[in-house]
Amino acid sequence: MRTICIINLKGGVAKTLTAVNMAHILATVHNRRVLLIDNDKQGNTSKMFGLHSYDEKSVSDLLTEKNPDLDEIIADTRYKFLDLIPANMNLLDANKMTMIDSSWQRETRFKKALQPISGDYDYCVIDNAPDINIGIINALVMSDDIIIPIKIDPFAFDGLKELQRHIDSVKEDLNPELCLMGCLVTCYSRNDVNAQGEEHLRTQLKYPVFATHIRRTEKADESTFATMPILEYSPRCGAARDYQSFVREYLEKLSDSDTNHKKK
Ligand SMILES: Nc1ncnc2c1ncn2[C@@H]1O[C@H](COP(=O)(O)OP(=O)(O)OP(=O)(O)O)[C@@H](O)[C@H]1O
Ligand SMILES: [Mg+2]
Repeated sequence: MRTICIINLKGGVAKTLTAVNMAHILATVHNRRVLLIDNDKQGNTSKMFGLHSYDEKSVSDLLTEKNPDLDEIIADTRYKFLDLIPANMNLLDANKMTMIDSSWQRETRFKKALQPISGDYDYCVIDNAPDINIGIINALVMSDDIIIPIKIDPFAFDGLKELQRHIDSVKEDLNPELCLMGCLVTCYSRNDVNAQGEEHLRTQLKYPVFATHIRRTEKADESTFATMPILEYSPRCGAARDYQSFVREYLEKLSDSDTNHKKK
């Protein structure tokens, strides 16, 4: 199972839209077995699949239970190859409780809990809250790849340095294989501000950036109201096509790095 962490300290940059659509495209276009984890108390990813509830187990139980019952926590979605671990506001207390309970290691709880099912999935995609908390550190510890969605606006790059610092510290202490795959420009409009912002990211800040950007499309916003993945809501719209190109680019990057690895 290859785990992808969708993260940015900033809110409203399309983390959830990216996580949901990446997972849906991997599962329905590429026929990969995908586990999507909602790691945000807002539960927006869970709502997208009609799986937001206080009656069922959720991601919180991965933090608070020593031997969580994964059959109870992992929910089926209406897509054959796509399963979901939902979230709700209980995650707020679960994060707090994890911080005060040092009787077992706090940072590796997701990783240990999900070890038994890692052979059941090809990919795990994690949608995170715009924050750094112990749940998000757990997500970084179990991840292979990081993708940072960025919406170009006057404050687009705020928090990137702080995020990088947290990534570096997880890499150093707990997960040396963690790789920043790239920033993904979302909500892209064809104007000077967006072109300059993207250029600044590539050349001045020197972050890896995906060649694909996701165009701002009203259909994308509508798809969240309709709680449907964009490819199902409006398969021919710009954002649906861009998300498919982005997933193809991600898979190509993976196979390139695999080839380079083997050559060494
Ligand atoms: N390509 C796009 N075109 C138009 N609207 C978009 C696009 N991508 C995202 N949006 C809209 O931007 C808003 C924020 O998206 P989303 O909820 O995915 O962001 P987020 O980073 O997960 O937010 P939060 O930090 O609150 O979790 C939503 O209303 C969504 O519909
Ligand atoms: Mg979100």
